[in-house]
Amino acid sequence: MKLKVLTEGDERLRVICKPVTKITPAIKKLIADMIETMYYKKGVGLAAPQVGSDLRIIVFDPRTTKRRKPQVLINPELSEMRGEIRGDEGCLSCPGLWGEVVRSAHVLAKGFNEAGEPVEIESDGGVLSVVLQHETDHLDGILFLDRLDPAQQLRVMKEREEL
Ligand code: NI
Repeated sequence: MKLKVLTEGDERLRVICKPVTKITPAIKKLIADMIETMYYKKGVGLAAPQVGSDLRIIVFDPRTTKRRKPQVLINPELSEMRGEIRGDEGCLSCPGLWGEVVRSAHVLAKGFNEAGEPVEIESDGGVLSVVLQHETDHLDGILFLDRLDPAQQLRVMKEREEL
């Protein structure tokens, strides 16, 4: 089932999400719906608060191959962040807005899959590194807009007025 994606200004995008303590059928359904919604909206990632849930769940598919390969991380934690990459980011919750964000190139993401098994994903740059950081930010109520430098924030403010 496709879910409604909340947009910037909705307070539910600003909450600190809660860890998942038990993987229930409802949570599995939420994950399946998030994946369906991500593909429908042509996003490379989606975080639970974007669809109104306050649980620490992200789904993503950095599209490095033509074939769909949806991944989920429950209670993701990022570590070993080092290096620097810059790239234009957008967000399904901030339609029409883009900006350059500085992220760590290397990241180790630890969390759990739908079966409750521990998962580790290491990324050394590229879209996957960006997506992991962008989506995990959502779980702490942070949007990519918050990470733009002042000049870019000003530009986005003006663009937003024109939208
Ligand atoms: Ni986003």
